[in-house]
Amino acid sequence: MTDLTERASKLDAEDPLAYLRAEFDLDPAVVYLDGNSLGAPPRRVADRVGEVVREQWGRRLIRSWPESWWTAPERVGEKIAPLVGAAPGQLVVADSTSVNLFKALVGAVRLAPGRREIVVDAATFPTDGYIAESVAELTGTVLRPVAMDELDYVLGDQTAVVLLNHVDYRTGRLYDMAAATERVHEAGARVVWDLCHSAGVLPIELDALGVDLAVGCTYKFLNGGPGAPAFIYVPHDLQESFRQPLSGWGGHRDPFAMAPAYEPAPGIARARAGTPDILSLLALEAALEVWDGVDLDDVRAKGLALTGFFMECVDELLGDAVEVVTPRDGNRGHQVSLRHPGAGALVAEMTAREVIGDFRTPDVLRFGFAPLYTTYGDACRAARTLSDILADAAAGH
Ligand SMILES: Cc1ncc(COP(=O)(O)O)c(C=O)c1O
Repeated sequence: MTDLTERASKLDAEDPLAYLRAEFDLDPAVVYLDGNSLGAPPRRVADRVGEVVREQWGRRLIRSWPESWWTAPERVGEKIAPLVGAAPGQLVVADSTSVNLFKALVGAVRLAPGRREIVVDAATFPTDGYIAESVAELTGTVLRPVAMDELDYVLGDQTAVVLLNHVDYRTGRLYDMAAATERVHEAGARVVWDLCHSAGVLPIELDALGVDLAVGCTYKFLNGGPGAPAFIYVPHDLQESFRQPLSGWGGHRDPFAMAPAYEPAPGIARARAGTPDILSLLALEAALEVWDGVDLDDVRAKGLALTGFFMECVDELLGDAVEVVTPRDGNRGHQVSLRHPGAGALVAEMTAREVIGDFRTPDVLRFGFAPLYTTYGDACRAARTLSDILADAAAGH
């Protein structure tokens, strides 16, 4: 035990990203391991939102729309682009992940006339499956949920689009984006990647891998705040043929011409729909500044080290009292999921002891490790708290 604590202190002292924790407004009494659900607030966000309300809204009033607000979805998109390997002009921040999934899936089906199937990972985050089902119904296609290991067997000349998660939200398993994208393309289909659990986790190469479309949220590892708007990626070579279904004025070629007929904007702006959610969008813009000068390779290295160290602590302190479901090799995001039949009650008791993770039904305890602010000490304390709770329960306390 002492050994683990000492190792944690040493790892924290040697951590090249340790300076970033001071950028976040975290309660020092709390161990926060739920940044894979809701990232912690960068300190600068509160001031920025105050300034936006007081100055941009309060003083500039409606003049702020042409001065800075109308183009904010593209501007903030450019800040996310380098985190996902996208050259400028291909990413816009607008609406929620669910809404962007709808746009992307309908757009992808329209790019594949004559093909009748939408393939989706059967274990996907529920909203992806629900949206895909609705898109299938609306476009007259058939939804084929499939286990990821069986993807190869279902791809064929009927596949229009395949919707995949880069990291499985429940287990933390990371999928090989290069290999899966290639297999989907070999079948002549389009791929849509959901990057909710990988944006801000590891270097992603959307352009280099020739990904067709991608979406992701900004309130997890990108720390944009509750309900922060999501992003959608449409590469240059698809933009002209991409026809998304939410043909609102925000994506019009000339929104202020108030023309009677819809004509999509020439570039990524066509992925927009209506009025952007400015307060959330500009809170996100401030939050993304924390990434300036941060190397994603360092983030990835620390995320793997943190999750690896946590698993080591779990092995040593908890033994086989819990099952580690997250892959122990490098194929994981920055979360560790543990299985225990009393997971719900255990997470509740950990929270009561100021260690915050989350519970995923039916029996998973999920812990997220955000390398910008999570410490090795946090990882050690979380495992120790869980072990204490199980020991107390066994002793009948
Ligand atoms: C993989 C994945 N997709 C989508 C979502 C959520 O979509 P939305 O932002 O529309 O709520 C989540 C939320 O946790 C998620 O984990």
